[in-house]
Amino acid sequence: MEYARIAPLMGRLWSPLAAVTSRWQGKANVQIAVAIAAASIVPDMPRVVVQIYKTNFSHHLIYSSGALALNFLRADQLHLIKDFGMVSGRDRDKLEGVGVHAEATGCPVLDDSWGYLDCQVVNAMDGGDMTCFLADVVTGDVVSNDAPLWWRDARRMIPDEWNREWDRKIAREIEVSRERMKEIDPSPWKSAE
Ligand SMILES: Cc1cc2nc3c(=O)[nH]c(=O)nc-3n(C[C@H](O)[C@H](O)[C@H](O)COP(=O)(O)O)c2cc1C
Repeated sequence: MEYARIAPLMGRLWSPLAAVTSRWQGKANVQIAVAIAAASIVPDMPRVVVQIYKTNFSHHLIYSSGALALNFLRADQLHLIKDFGMVSGRDRDKLEGVGVHAEATGCPVLDDSWGYLDCQVVNAMDGGDMTCFLADVVTGDVVSNDAPLWWRDARRMIPDEWNREWDRKIAREIEVSRERMKEIDPSPWKSAE
């Protein structure tokens, strides 16, 4: 197959940019994700699927706690892509100075976003390099009249240096994933709580 031919199609399957927050044993964190999709046809039983890479510090917090919150970003929140998506919570407290509050699950919900979904994980599937979490949306709201932000648009709006930094980071992660994707563990997921 010529992979370049399907790249425009694959690229459109990513979701708007979200800051994914989590909390476990007193430690809170945030990362960026675009591998998010609606996963329920019942309007009053909303669900999402969210794919989180195992190399991320957030993976440990979400896998252990069974909870996450999706905070979808607006175009005027571009700086959060770099602050949350290009460094790890292992190295710094990324939520320091960021306005957050807790709702149903206890995950930090950003005070400012396009909208948010506070979610309880109901199951998880191992993908080798990442875990695909299926989660009930327990509460949420759309808090802004602005539009959500997509990575393909944000890439044209952020400084060149951020794009170069991202290209270096993703190139390293692609090599890790290339090896780990084949190592799928079919054991069932069980939250630590
Ligand atoms: C545009 C963009 C999209 C991303 N999408 C995802 C994603 O869908 N899933 C994921 O696990 N990581 C994704 N990441 C990577 C994490 O946000 C990044 O590795 C982060 O530094 C992890 O932080 P942590 O170690 O504190 O959890 C994305 C990053 C960016 C910049």
